Amino acid sequence: MSTLECFQFPYGSDNYGVLIHDSASGDTACIDAGDADAALDALNASGWPLTHLLITHHHADHTAGLAAIKAKTGCHVIGPEPLSKPIAGLDANVSDGSEFTFANRVVSVLHTPGHTTDMVNFYFADDKLVFTGDTLFSMGCGRLFEGDAAMMLASVAKLNALPDDTLVYSAHEYTATNARFALAVDPDNALLQQRAADVTALRAKNLATVPSLLGLEKQTNPFLRVGDAGIRKTLGMADADDVAVFAELRERRNQY
Ligand SMILES: [Fe+2]
Repeated sequence: MSTLECFQFPYGSDNYGVLIHDSASGDTACIDAGDADAALDALNASGWPLTHLLITHHHADHTAGLAAIKAKTGCHVIGPEPLSKPIAGLDANVSDGSEFTFANRVVSVLHTPGHTTDMVNFYFADDKLVFTGDTLFSMGCGRLFEGDAAMMLASVAKLNALPDDTLVYSAHEYTATNARFALAVDPDNALLQQRAADVTALRAKNLATVPSLLGLEKQTNPFLRVGDAGIRKTLGMADADDVAVFAELRERRNQY
């Protein structure tokens, strides 16, 4: 049972940042830094002093506020190796398999390239939390800006291997469109039909659909289900290899 408190806050058109707080140690982390004002407002609202800033990838909507947040709080900034565009202001670089201590527990780093080559995700195994940036979304995955389908499939496979009761915090509210697309390629999935209806109800009230349980993603996210016979039938790719199915799903989602 996690003793961490998470406070998710929106910024930009559809981004989410997250504050992670441990009352025992007083440590507080923020996932990504796209908007300094939004992060600092969330910190003020929570009353939690920021100790760590965890950056998933170099895109501006995840890094534009880094310098201002660091200057204001003096936080320790952890982010990926400079495999694509270097990120200014990092105090530590992490890569696949890296571990660091936050709030007296181990945080494991998963390198999940595909959306960008530098992408890292942060896994809090003891607390059953994973922060997936723009790699895995609720019922979707990130666009392939710097990697290819094989690279992204290997990346989402790392996330797919985590326990079902892991809570997935992704960085964008794309779920309503993702749900419609998922239904288009997986129309007979009863759990997906129910989840899509739940998402419609949440969005009608302007409520967040993030985070989600990984176990539910495994059953409803087409990008985690490339071996599924029903999806393959819809695509007309019954005997194709997994990379080809993944590439076709991603391309259809781009056009959707
Ligand atoms: Fe991104």
